[in-house]
Amino acid sequence: MSFQIALDGPSGAGKSTVAKALAAKMNLIYVDTGALYRAIGLYTQRKGVDPRNAVGVENLLPEISLELRYDADGTQQVYLNGEATGNQIRTPEISMYASAVSAIPAVRAFLLDTQRRIAEKNDVVMDGRDIGTVILPNANVKIFLTANDECRAKRRWLELKEKGMEPSYESVLEDMRRRDHNDSTRTIAPAVAAPDAVLLDSSDLTIDECVAKIETIALSKRKK
Ligand code: DC
Repeated sequence: MSFQIALDGPSGAGKSTVAKALAAKMNLIYVDTGALYRAIGLYTQRKGVDPRNAVGVENLLPEISLELRYDADGTQQVYLNGEATGNQIRTPEISMYASAVSAIPAVRAFLLDTQRRIAEKNDVVMDGRDIGTVILPNANVKIFLTANDECRAKRRWLELKEKGMEPSYESVLEDMRRRDHNDSTRTIAPAVAAPDAVLLDSSDLTIDECVAKIETIALSKRKK
């Protein structure tokens, strides 16, 4: 059986940075599931379909083929119908599209098998919103990583700046709160902690401290 770490939590809590470092340390594949929703968001935007229009988005799904590939350094790249999506899926506009399409049941059903298949075949740390609750309910380790709003918005703002974008801090904070609200109150697979998840608040922790805490938990489970 593969070894599975489910890492859920809101945006900006540090999931991707922590997951990447953990993957490198523990020799796991890092799966960024948000990128899959982002790729569907990108396709929806390109087709000019309103991402809140469930029927419209559902009708696009048969046209979409997604594939995850990994560079030598473990960086994940999502291919949308054979095209590498790169930073196109990282813009604030596509973040909102991703959040909207992720509330559509057909979209979640469409992505379920892709996610489970990767985790069955590989030892993974999978970052998302419903990994511990829906995708991998039997994961060996479940972590729900949080941080306070201001801290998360600041991290997200710095990340966007590093990618060459120039949003204001206020707009990032506002977008983040709106997206959190959408993600945690939707009726299907809301972003909530699994009952058996370990809650970890990263507000006052460094990345290394978060990684060390999760690694300790994971190593104790791996031995069993
Ligand atoms: O992690 P992220 O910010 O890249 O995710 C983009 C959006 O996709 C986010 O608003 C919520 C949604 N998402 C989800 O519903 N379930 C997941 N497992 C991952 C992301």
